[in-house]
Amino acid sequence: MTDSSAHSTPSAAAAPRRRILVTSALPYANGAIHLGHLVEYIQTDIWVRFQKLRGHECYYVCADDAHGTAIMLKAEQLGIAPETLIEQVNAEHRADFARFLIEFDNYHSTHAPENRELSETIYRRLRANGHIATRAVIQPFDPEKGLFLADRYIKGTCPRCRAPDQYGDNCEACGATYSPAELIDPRSALSGATPVERESLHYFFTLTAFTDFLRRWTRAGHVAEEIANKLGEWLDGGLQDWDISRDAPYFGFEIPDAPGKFFYVWLDAPIGYMASFRNLCDRKGIDFDAFWRRDADTELYHFIGKDIVNFHALFWPAMLESAGFRTPDRICVHGFLTIDGKKMSKSRGTFVNARAYADHLNPEYLRYDCAAKLSAGIDDLDLNLDDFAQRVNSDLVGKVVNIASRCARFIGEGKGGTLAATIAEPELWQRALAAAETIAAHYEEREFGKAMREIMAIADAANEYIAAREPWKLAKQPERAAEVEAICSLGINLFRLLMLYLKPVLPATAARAERFLACELRWDQPIEPLLGHRIAAFEPLLQRVERKQIDAMLAASAEPAAATPTTAATSTLQEPIAATIDFDAFAKVDLRIARIAAAAPVEGSDKLLKLTLDLGSEIRTVFSGIRSAYRPEDLEGRLTVMVANLAPRKMRFGVSEGMVLAAGDGGGIYLLSPDSGAEPGQRVT
Ligand code: MSP
Ligand code: ZN
Repeated sequence: MTDSSAHSTPSAAAAPRRRILVTSALPYANGAIHLGHLVEYIQTDIWVRFQKLRGHECYYVCADDAHGTAIMLKAEQLGIAPETLIEQVNAEHRADFARFLIEFDNYHSTHAPENRELSETIYRRLRANGHIATRAVIQPFDPEKGLFLADRYIKGTCPRCRAPDQYGDNCEACGATYSPAELIDPRSALSGATPVERESLHYFFTLTAFTDFLRRWTRAGHVAEEIANKLGEWLDGGLQDWDISRDAPYFGFEIPDAPGKFFYVWLDAPIGYMASFRNLCDRKGIDFDAFWRRDADTELYHFIGKDIVNFHALFWPAMLESAGFRTPDRICVHGFLTIDGKKMSKSRGTFVNARAYADHLNPEYLRYDCAAKLSAGIDDLDLNLDDFAQRVNSDLVGKVVNIASRCARFIGEGKGGTLAATIAEPELWQRALAAAETIAAHYEEREFGKAMREIMAIADAANEYIAAREPWKLAKQPERAAEVEAICSLGINLFRLLMLYLKPVLPATAARAERFLACELRWDQPIEPLLGHRIAAFEPLLQRVERKQIDAMLAASAEPAAATPTTAATSTLQEPIAATIDFDAFAKVDLRIARIAAAAPVEGSDKLLKLTLDLGSEIRTVFSGIRSAYRPEDLEGRLTVMVANLAPRKMRFGVSEGMVLAAGDGGGIYLLSPDSGAEPGQRVT
């Protein structure tokens, strides 16, 4: 029998109360939240819940990223005002996040008065400091729409495989990448008009002036080392001034004193973090400046994916520095989610929207699975759906919840009762308790996977203890009732520790556990065991995952997107390859063996090679987008296969008279070759 005070942790909350502002990247207001996004919001939410649980003053703000051409065009396509579109999407995003128990202190929009004001203030300060420059830029322009065209709004025939209707700078059919100028017959994806080049005045943020500042900043512990190294390469390669203006028509904020010029969406998006917080401060009476002034003693963390590092670790700190605000303490960068080892894909049904998941599976399963995989690094995370089910069933249901359900029935027959007045096995309890600080340190460092393994080790020890004592056998002997009660009371105390440690990950299950245990799970004060404490009736805490639920989710994701306002516009991409063709169609293709007589780079293109092909009876010139994979000199003399009766195409660099065949899905490019013995000019059938 040990004195109960010896059972508590030394002092969980001795550390001073920190004041922390946390953000996740702002999702675009033109699409649904999907599982890839959720990795980020779950990661951030776990970290924030952990900080709050430890008693710190922590605010988690986010918003929709509501500006830009894509949103303007989508609204136009739907025949609604952009303001209406972003309102609808905002409501959907909020609902999706709520289902995944993502608990923002504020969820705002970049299209908000706070953001306009802050964006203008910051811009004016940059300008006053001489960090805004202007110069003329020549860009493709759609004369029918009256709009400058970004790469993704230019369509044409792929210069490599000649698939028609390929967007911007890469081909969906063959995976080639190129510059829009290389497209055959370039057209505006918006109107079909041939783009013309047009000049316009643009506003630039002089990022170059911040090279030395950024060299220091990126090496001062604000990003992981691997990120700092990557940024170092960019800095060594030389920064360029950043084009922050877009011409009307544009959905965004007009630039002060520059009629018809708008802030580029990426200029006001990070300012949206401040704006969302400003909105919260105004409603709650929080001191905004305490979190944003240059000498603030509060903490600022941005959680983002690895695709948007340059915006957050170069442009953003430079802007803040110039405008006289504090810079972030840390940019926390995570990797990308793949599903069953592959990029999420609409056609494979693995492009799973938050809603499709939550309609079939418990969001806390995903939170746990993400937690188990997340580290502070930027490696991609794979959601293998069989492992997912296995992990949830074995860890959460089989290990953690099982402790409670096994023990509860011996405390007042599961209908509630009083726990023993002492801890049966102090050493086991102490070990589980001592892990608290290690687990807390893992959470703090965003090493959630390590935290989950530590927690499951305690669950294993608890289960071994119960299995060895076999309370269900002892219960058959009435004289050993006190022993049974002691074993199961310790089991329930261990369960309570486990649920406390898991509370940031499983807030809903933790809330049910709190009702069952009749106590709040707190980590901001020394943890005492529950002795002589009355618990409530046991209630089921979590169900097993069934494969059929997963299959139902995948089936729902594979269905063509419903024609709701926010999904209709995304399903209009043309499918370039027919499902089947008849033999006659195939027989029309004249495939021939060709010898590459000469290969040469094409001036003005980093994608194309000019091939001189010997067909035995004639010589052809073909431009092929294989430069990234082959050195010209290695190709000369090689045999390959070409389409000989493709209509000649006029390209910027000359006429292409056919095409060569190559495999590739966007990764590598693999030119086809016949087995030895084939002769130039032979028909391939
Ligand atoms: N609107 C910008 C962010 C502006 S922040 C000032 C944006 N939006 S996004 O909707 O495309 O992405 C939002 C976040 O989700 C980004 O941090 C992005 O990295 C993350 N993810 C999007 N797809 C993802 C995966 N497949 N896996 C993990 N994270 C992913 O970027
Ligand atoms: Zn192609």
